[in-house]
Amino acid sequence: EGVFTYDPGFVSTAACESKITYIDGANGILLHRGYPIQELAENSDYLEVCYLLLNGELPTKEQGEVFKDTVKHHTMIHDQMRHFFSGFRRDAHPMAIMCGVVGALSAFYHDQMDVNNEEQRQITAHRLVAKMPTIAAWCYKYANGQPFIYPRNDLNYSENFLQMMFGNPCEEYKVNPILAKAMDKIFILHADHEQNASTSTVRLAGSTGANPYACIASGIAALWGPAHGGANEAVLDMLAEIGDESNIERFIEKAKDKNDPFRLMGFGHRVYKNFDPRAKVMRETCHEVLNELGIDDPLLRIAQRLEKIALEDEYFIERKLFPNVDFYSGIILKAMGIPTSMFTVIFALSRTIGWYSHWNEMVSGSFRIGRPRQLYTGSNQRDYPKG
Ligand code: CMC
Repeated sequence: EGVFTYDPGFVSTAACESKITYIDGANGILLHRGYPIQELAENSDYLEVCYLLLNGELPTKEQGEVFKDTVKHHTMIHDQMRHFFSGFRRDAHPMAIMCGVVGALSAFYHDQMDVNNEEQRQITAHRLVAKMPTIAAWCYKYANGQPFIYPRNDLNYSENFLQMMFGNPCEEYKVNPILAKAMDKIFILHADHEQNASTSTVRLAGSTGANPYACIASGIAALWGPAHGGANEAVLDMLAEIGDESNIERFIEKAKDKNDPFRLMGFGHRVYKNFDPRAKVMRETCHEVLNELGIDDPLLRIAQRLEKIALEDEYFIERKLFPNVDFYSGIILKAMGIPTSMFTVIFALSRTIGWYSHWNEMVSGSFRIGRPRQLYTGSNQRDYPKG
């Protein structure tokens, strides 16, 4: 009692055992249930990856079909939930709306959620995966003053999300399969990343036995910060600030200057000290999307040139600073017409299965309430002032 390690930022503390995701930062390896992320992005779709993260194995053809069909039948959200949206100011940040609405799901399903009941835990997973695109798209629609678009069960997961984002009741939305595929890859690449800040938050909240929808809302809150889910937004702001290829060198020098707080956004990672395997997939997808849309985006030209110069620069080589997943994902989302305020919402949608799989893994085994200790640095005991 009283002997513990002081580890701010949890850089050397493992808080749990997990069988879900493995990261080898030195060698740029990310595995979900043993499968490399590149292979999953190439061969699977997002719902198969959801099944894998949740259940530990890739689905057979039949299991995959049943899973997808089940998810489709949970995509609607209770009609009373519309009131939650209309309770927000119309200029509310979509992350604020999402955090509130997902937390509110706990009120709709509290009596059907016994943490110790495996069947109920599976249904909760289906509900969450199914409802997140509807909630995310409705956050966007609400902010734009456009009518909510209902889910369509004849479309696949990412197609359905895009039609709820960009469809309108006046004409049928035509899904572009290349954009839907790119959206699906973005979902896959953000699905899980072991014990990051938001996942640890979900586990900690869940360790008290709290309702899982409320736990997921706590993950959304933790993801919101610019040091975590908000980085792809920061990349775009930076590229816009650079503005022209002729300014790149100056910004590189600023990033290297220790008296200047400026950093190259989308470069470097706490864990990946070689390269981020997700960034490679994102880079290819980015080119596919821009070719498809015929966009010759000056921001992409700046991004490519910036990447090339930085990768050849001693400063970045010595410190092992490589582009991370957020470097390209922001450009893809922008090219698709998605506003920057929605970037973190899309990250939250994708990460929900990761959060839930970790919560499910924890509550299926033996676990203790999470209770970090502290180094107390306050006043010694003293007498209350009299008179
Ligand atoms: N630009 C310039 N210099 C950098 C950068 C950068 N982006 N990142 C790190 N450095 C330097 C840093 O100044 C330090 O130099 P020195 O040793 O001379 O003092 C050295 O590299 C090590 O940096 P650190 O801050 O100790 O590294 P960290 O592991 O604590 O930070 C990081 C990781 C991601 C916070 C940081 O690299 C960074 O701020 N990157 C930019 C923001 C960004 O893209 N974030 C997205 C992270 S991935 C998304 C997610 O997983 O949520």
